[in-house]
Parts: sequence; structure tokens; C-alpha cells
Amino acid sequence: MDYIEPPPDPKPDQKKYQRKFRKVRLKGKDESQIVIQKAQIRDVEEILELVNGFAASNLMLPRGPQYLYENIRDFVIASDKTVPVYGLTETREILYLIVACGSLHVLWEDIAEIRALAIHPEYQHLGLGSKLIEFMKQEAEQLGIRRLYTFTLTEDFFKTLGFKRQKRAELPAKVWGECSRCPKYFQCDEVGMVLEL
Ligand SMILES: CC(C)(COP(=O)(O)OP(=O)(O)OC[C@H]1O[C@@H](n2cnc3c(N)ncnc32)[C@H](O)[C@@H]1OP(=O)(O)O)[C@@H](O)C(=O)NCCC(=O)NCCS
Repeated sequence: MDYIEPPPDPKPDQKKYQRKFRKVRLKGKDESQIVIQKAQIRDVEEILELVNGFAASNLMLPRGPQYLYENIRDFVIASDKTVPVYGLTETREILYLIVACGSLHVLWEDIAEIRALAIHPEYQHLGLGSKLIEFMKQEAEQLGIRRLYTFTLTEDFFKTLGFKRQKRAELPAKVWGECSRCPKYFQCDEVGMVLEL
């Protein structure tokens, strides 16, 4: 019998999830009002908007809701407490604009991958990307992980955080699983980078 590939992640509703970026009206960003925390289920739609906004420009791998729900515990978000996006929810909470996200995906006993790191264009160069990496680095250390790696187009950003470029052949085979989902698999322009913890 022929082997049939399992279906890929269902394509996110293009209109809903591939909206570029939520328009932000900024009076002046107050960095003390940006809070970093673990993501929750309610954050999935906004995370998808952020990640797929960059994926539309080929900067990141596109993600669908199934991937987000299954891996929500990997995700960390930053929200801007000066930009409410939903009024009071059922639980009487006000939800705020998610301006950045990233995820830490454990692959094996000693290695985890940084995935889906995305900072809203209006919030870049404020140190948010670095703070999210630091948050995930601490999580990795608590878990007993010894190495972080990522595939990226922004080598210089990761260099500032101590990551070093690594030849593809030197990366463990385990890291290639995610690549097989990437539309750029045969023309990969990303660089593998590793941080020893
Ligand atoms: C790359 C990205 C995560 C950086 O986040 P950020 O919050 O802007 O980064 P930080 O403010 O912590 O930057 C720290 C330093 O890293 C370097 N840096 C940041 N973004 C960079 C980029 N795009 N290219 C090269 N170096 C960069 C700079 O030296 C920066 O210091 P500076 O702001 O004083 O110049 C963000 O620009 C982004 O989301 N880009 C689009 C999606 C993407 O490429 N994600 C990475 C996928 S792996």
C-alpha cells in the first residue's frame, strides 16, 4: 500500500490570520508598561497575526491554529498595558495588545529550539526580542537544557545575544524535522545558530 502523507496543518483562514499587523496608535511607548508572560489559549489568534504578518514577507515560517494550540505551552508573549484591545472579558479582565512573541520547543535531552520570535514592527529595537530570549533561556536552564539553537535570517540579532553560527552538518539531525515543513526547504537561506547554556 502507498504511504499517504498526513495532512499538513490546516491553512489558517487567510483573511483572519494573514492580516498584516494590527494598526497601533502610539502616544509614545512606555517600556515599563510592557509585560512579558507565558501565553494562554486566548492569545492564539493574536500570536498568529503577529507571526503570519512576518511569514507573509517570507521572514518566518507560517503557522496555523493547530500548531499554536498544540504548542501553546512553548509560547511567551509581551503585551502593552497602554493598548487595551478587548474590554472586560467574562473573567472581568482587560486584554492588552500582544506586541511580541517567541517560543521554546524542547527537541531532545540537551537541546531546545527558539521558534516564532516576532516583534511587532512598531516595537522593534526596544530590547524586547532580547528580553524574550532571556526569558526563554531561563526557562531552558530550569528544564536542564544545555543548548539553544535557531534557524534565522537575522544572524546579527542572535550574535548580540551570544549565539554562534553553526554549520548545518554539525547540528543534530533532530533539528531538521521542522525544516521539512518549510516552503523554503530546497532553497533555504537561513543560518543555524547555537547558544551553549
Ligand atoms: C529580529 C527581531 C526579533 C529583533 O527584535 P528586537 O526587539 O527589535 O531586538 P532588540 O531590540 O532586542 O535588539 C537588540 C540588538 O540586536 C540587533 N538587531 C536587532 N534587530 C536586528 C535585525 N533585524 N538585524 C540585525 N541586527 C538586529 C541590534 O544590534 C539591536 O540593538 P539596537 O536596537 O541598539 O540596534 C525583530 O526585529 C523581529 O521580530 N523581526 C522580524 C521577524 C524575525 O526576523 N524574527 C526572527 C526569526 S528567527
